[in-house]
Amino acid sequence: MNKHFKMTEEQERAYAELLMGRSVLLVGAAGTGKSEFIRHVRFTLPGRIAVVAPTGMASMNVGTGAVTIHSLFQVPPVKDGYFDFDHFTLRKRTERALKNVDYLVIDEISMVRPDLFDLMESLARRARKRDDFFGGICLLLVGDFHQLPPIVRREEGEFFLTRYGSENPHFFDAKCLRGQTLSVVQLTKMFRQQSVEFWDILTKIGEGKIDRGIIEKLNSRVIGSDPPPKEALVVTPYRESAERKNREELEALPGAIHCYVGKKTGTFEAINGDDLPSPEVLELKEGASIIFTCNATGNEWVNGTGGKVIRLHKDSVDVMLRSQQNRILSVGVHEWSHLIPDSKEYATTGTYRQIPLRLGYALTVHKTQGKTCDSIVVQNDRRFFACGQLYVALSRARTLESIYLTAPLRPSDVKVDSRVVEFHEKLAGSSSKISL
Ligand SMILES: Nc1ncnc2c1ncn2[C@@H]1O[C@H](COP(=O)(O)OP(=O)(O)OP(=O)(O)O)[C@@H](O)[C@H]1O
Ligand SMILES: [Mg+2]
Repeated sequence: MNKHFKMTEEQERAYAELLMGRSVLLVGAAGTGKSEFIRHVRFTLPGRIAVVAPTGMASMNVGTGAVTIHSLFQVPPVKDGYFDFDHFTLRKRTERALKNVDYLVIDEISMVRPDLFDLMESLARRARKRDDFFGGICLLLVGDFHQLPPIVRREEGEFFLTRYGSENPHFFDAKCLRGQTLSVVQLTKMFRQQSVEFWDILTKIGEGKIDRGIIEKLNSRVIGSDPPPKEALVVTPYRESAERKNREELEALPGAIHCYVGKKTGTFEAINGDDLPSPEVLELKEGASIIFTCNATGNEWVNGTGGKVIRLHKDSVDVMLRSQQNRILSVGVHEWSHLIPDSKEYATTGTYRQIPLRLGYALTVHKTQGKTCDSIVVQNDRRFFACGQLYVALSRARTLESIYLTAPLRPSDVKVDSRVVEFHEKLAGSSSKISL
């Protein structure tokens, strides 16, 4: 837990609602302290708390103990397009966890598919043998709907259209939400970003309310005479581009590769093998750019902080932070654990031990989620294809000056889903509660 954390008035309001047992929808733009709030409440709310997120990366961002939704609910990845929740098996471990939990916290709720949310709700009712919403579990749903939407394959479009009324479904389409009232808390204080001007640009990109001025300001950051610093992180929507860049840069360095092999115990399952916080085979060389993949218990680094490898040891790596070049930190093995409520307090269902680093030359937009980055090169010469992708990439930075674009932005690059806009209008019209 961050010792320097002090709740804002808005965060306090959310906390008070939770203490009264009311489910909360906590929304706010990137960098307003949503995940930090979760990191805080996990240790302070009375009662047993399960923290989940739709992807492994997002769950690791909220600290050790958090698990993926798939892991807590033991849901296999979708096979034939959707979750057949009428015939779904409630596993014993999930049943025990759901029976014993007081709060269920979900980060990055914008990425949760409505069919998955409906399935979770039905499993919770079955486990608790109660007919009310989630069998009476108090929910904290956290996210920013301008960021990444759920991943839906093209061939699943028709299913969602018939079952949920749209080919581009969102969490708020879930059937179990109909008739429910949630307390709404909007976080508005910026923490990650440092200037009001940059904040304004990001907000407008997020909401899709761009004008020529915004595009011009961003385009002043197109790489030209002012080259990006060598250590800037390349952010791309394409996984193969990110992997290629990391591999090429590592190969170009002199010296030998040192391999650190991560160790899993129990069921530390990732949705796909690539979804671990740090790679299972972490290859590094002295001189390599890295980023951190966890938050330090002190304040030395956060998830996303950049640095350079100075020396490689058997079980640790000496790293110089980009922001404090006079300081060298020894980074040892970190343990991520999966904790779920059990009949006695919590049960650890699995652990993963690895050096909390990954190569810091390039990362996909998905993997940058939740992170705060020192300087980034947004690789927008190839199209950003999904709504929210460009906004997520840009909002990892603290300042406009730390962003570099590989091509001029066009207004058509800013894609916003009209259904998200509608939902936000509904949120804005409801000061403290929303009925869905
Ligand atoms: N109340 C607070 N006091 C001090 N620092 C804070 C507070 N809340 C958040 N921060 C800091 O601000 C930064 C961004 O916070 P956080 O990651 O929680 O944002 P977020 O809203 O989850 O963003 P994203 O939507 O990108 O995931 C972090 O470095 C965090 O430590
Ligand atoms: Mg977050």
